[in-house]
Amino acid sequence: MRRKVLVANWKMNKTAGEAQVLMSQLLENADALPAGLEVILACPYIYLREFVRKTDQLERMSLAAQNCHYEQKGAFTGEISPSMLKSIGITICIVGHSERRVLFGESDDVVKRKISACVHVGVTPILCVGEHLEDREAGKEFLTVQHQVHTALSALEQQQQFMVAYEPVWAIGTGRVASPEQAQEMHAFIRQELSKIHTNWIDRAILYGGSCNDSNAYPLFSCKDVDGGLVGTASLSANSFIRIAQSFS
Ligand code: PGA
Repeated sequence: MRRKVLVANWKMNKTAGEAQVLMSQLLENADALPAGLEVILACPYIYLREFVRKTDQLERMSLAAQNCHYEQKGAFTGEISPSMLKSIGITICIVGHSERRVLFGESDDVVKRKISACVHVGVTPILCVGEHLEDREAGKEFLTVQHQVHTALSALEQQQQFMVAYEPVWAIGTGRVASPEQAQEMHAFIRQELSKIHTNWIDRAILYGGSCNDSNAYPLFSCKDVDGGLVGTASLSANSFIRIAQSFS
């Protein structure tokens, strides 16, 4: 059976006090989340240790990191490794977000190494893929995504856990959301590509991200091959995030 997953990506937002308020509001609503939906909060690193204590008793709300390094330890000033995340109880990590790729120069090869480092220690990566507007305008969106998926995941063994988030770069933080048809078409394609690597990967969770909000969530998340979402801006308010979660009921 396929999972239903909703991820909040707070990015570099919220001071400690603001993060506390948002977390408390979300926890107050934990019981109102639709049955069967897994909610994952990707908070800034510095809040994870404290928040993991608040969520570790909850069945359907957990935490994720937004990034990690591809080595487990060493002289990499300012970096955090998958084994460090694991050691504080964080078992999910976003990898290869387009902001990391575009603003911090992460190549497909770096993304691949991060994915391997995560699965090696039992951290589930959420691999982000997605084309730029120029790719789509040139009719190359499938080729781009195919390359990203295969480079990042081909070396994994079939039992290793991961999720994929399809996030067209032109839709991230722009208010320009993919249509349900565009999302469905790409998700079906990604599912097919995953099953070419290992047949049983056909059921892996594939999330949509890019300008999701409480008005467009339902038609997107109702698409056959869309298993949930990765939400940035609209996850910064508890009300809007909870409303998005309720679109799964
Ligand atoms: P957005 O961000 O919802 O603000 O477009 C999504 C993401 O980058 O994960």
